[in-house]
Amino acid sequence: MKPIIEIKNLTKSYQTLKAVDDLSFCVYEGEILGLLGPNGSGKTTTINCLLSLLNYQTGMIKILNQEMKPDNYNIKSQIGVVFQDISVFDELTVLENIDYFCGLYINDRKKRKQYIQEVIDLVGLEDFKKFYPKELSGGLLRRLNIACGISHKPRIIILDEPTVAVDPQSRNQILEGIEKLREKGATIIYTTHYMEEVEKICDRVIILDKGKILASGTPDGLKELVKTNEKVNVEILKLDLKHLDNLKKLKNVHEIKYQKNILSITFKKGKNNLANLLEYLKEEKIKYLNIYSSTVTLNDVFLELTGKELRD
Ligand SMILES: Nc1ncnc2c1ncn2[C@@H]1O[C@H](COP(=O)(O)OP(=O)(O)OP(=O)(O)O)[C@@H](O)[C@H]1O
Ligand SMILES: [Mg+2]
Repeated sequence: MKPIIEIKNLTKSYQTLKAVDDLSFCVYEGEILGLLGPNGSGKTTTINCLLSLLNYQTGMIKILNQEMKPDNYNIKSQIGVVFQDISVFDELTVLENIDYFCGLYINDRKKRKQYIQEVIDLVGLEDFKKFYPKELSGGLLRRLNIACGISHKPRIIILDEPTVAVDPQSRNQILEGIEKLREKGATIIYTTHYMEEVEKICDRVIILDKGKILASGTPDGLKELVKTNEKVNVEILKLDLKHLDNLKKLKNVHEIKYQKNILSITFKKGKNNLANLLEYLKEEKIKYLNIYSSTVTLNDVFLELTGKELRD
C-alpha cells in the first residue's frame, strides 16, 4: 500500500523542550489513524507541523507525493482540518458558518448547497441551522466545528481531539460520522487521549509520549504487547492469607493482591482463567460478594510501556 502522508524524522523544539522528537510515520489511503497520547505528548504540534503551520527543526513531510510547504495550496485544498480549539464565527448562524467555510473551496452554489446539507445530516445539526454558536451546547458547538472543517469533502481529514468535553450523545454522533467519512473513502488522522474512542474507530494507532512513538499497530496488535490479558476483581470480606499463596499457583496467574476486601488477579493469556479461579473459591468455600472480569485496554498498554496512566 502506498502512503498518502509520509513524515520522516520530524523534530520540533520550543526552546529546550522537544515537543516532537524524531518522529517518523506514514498514513495510508482510506484508514483512520489514531494519534493517542496524554496531554502534552505532542499531538497538536505534530498536526501543526504536518499542515506547515509551524516551522520545525528537522524532518521531511510529503502529502500526496508532494513535499508539504506553507504555500502548497494544491495539497492544502485537499485537507480538511478540525482544530482542537473551536474556530467558528460568533456572528454567523450554524448554516452561515458552514456556508462560509465550504465557500472557500466550493464556488458552485448548487453543489455547495448539497455539500452543506450532507454535512449537516452527518453531524446531526438539522434542527439548529438558524442557531448562533453562543446558543449551542458544548457538544453541538463541537459538531459545528467539525462540519466547518470537512464540508468541502476533503480527501484527507485531520481531527484534533474533536470530542473533548462533549456529552455522550454528541460523542456517538461524532464517532459514527467519522466512520461514515471513512466509508466514503476519506483518509483520517484522529488525535485523542480517550483510548475507548481509538479502540472503537481506528484501524491503526500510534501511541505518543513526550514527542516520541512508544508503540504503533492495530488496537488488537497493541494489546498483544501487554503480558497479561485478563483482570479479575473479586469482592471478598475475609480472606485467609494462605489462599493468596495457593492462588498464585493457579495456572496463568501473573499478579495477585488483596486490598480493601478486593482480591485482584491479573492473568497471562490462556484458557479458563476465570473458571479455574471460581473452582478454587468453590472448593475452599470462600464466599464472595461480587466478581468482575475485564480484558486489556490500550490504557494497560500505555501503563505497561510507561508505568503511568494514559489519563494523567
Ligand atoms: N507555543 C508553544 N510554546 C512552548 N511550548 C509549547 C508550545 N506549544 C506546545 N508546547 C509544549 O509542547 C508540548 C507538546 O504540546 P502539544 O500541544 O503538541 O501536546 P498535545 O499532545 O496536543 O496535548 P493536549 O492533549 O493537551 O492537546 C507540551 O509540553 C507543550 O507544553
Ligand atoms: Mg493538543
